[in-house]
Amino acid sequence: PLQTSHEVGLWSARYIVDTINKFAPSAERPFVLGLPTGGTPLNTYKQLITLFNQGEVSFEHVVTFNMDEYCNIPADHDQSYRTFMYENFFKHIDIKEENINLLNGNASDVDAECKRYEDKIKSYGKIHLFMGGVGNDGHIAFNEPASSLASRTRIKTLTEDTRMANSRFFDNDINQVPKHALTIGVGTLLDAEEIMILVTGHNKAQALQAAVEGSVNHLWTVSALQLHPKAMIVCDAPSTAEL
Ligand code: GLP
Repeated sequence: PLQTSHEVGLWSARYIVDTINKFAPSAERPFVLGLPTGGTPLNTYKQLITLFNQGEVSFEHVVTFNMDEYCNIPADHDQSYRTFMYENFFKHIDIKEENINLLNGNASDVDAECKRYEDKIKSYGKIHLFMGGVGNDGHIAFNEPASSLASRTRIKTLTEDTRMANSRFFDNDINQVPKHALTIGVGTLLDAEEIMILVTGHNKAQALQAAVEGSVNHLWTVSALQLHPKAMIVCDAPSTAEL
């Protein structure tokens, strides 16, 4: 069993690399990877960059879709998910710019932007592997408690708890944390061929318990994983305290 968040990073990165290599992507048949932001996947991104630098994987024929993006902060804001992805991953690997898909949280027509994203995913058939994290309250992407388990990409109002948790990235000032975000839906996530959720730290123990021991429940959207034929949770020891 994995003990630390560091080990979760090593294991998940190795799993992604092995899955991409087994797929043997090409220009005609790219590998489609769904990606999260947040503190949890940072170790994974670091290790993916290391494996890329060691020549163990190429992202030339990998297409990515990110889970979510804040609304009403500039795209180049240091806490936008676009900036996060470029700084922590994309600028260090050989992915092609045109293969990177991110939601535009500042789109003037939000519904059209969300539809564009869903259509773009569909144009590839499906996402082959979707990596995600989980919020303290059990949200996946920004599917806050009480999101429909059939939801598609749309705008969500963030809960006070989520904004509080994410205020650590905004000078610990909740007033600076956006109030809305665009997010893939639970249904969008469940359409992926395979899902891998990373869970680390004792503050996620309740969410992990709800995910695997609770009922399928829209108050803990991560529990929807139980409906998926190929979903796994990669977790460290502290997050398993309530199991
Ligand atoms: C945000 C993101 C989620 C992420 C969650 C947990 O709300 N939208 O995708 O899983 O935070 O983040 P962290 O990994 O920093 O705990």
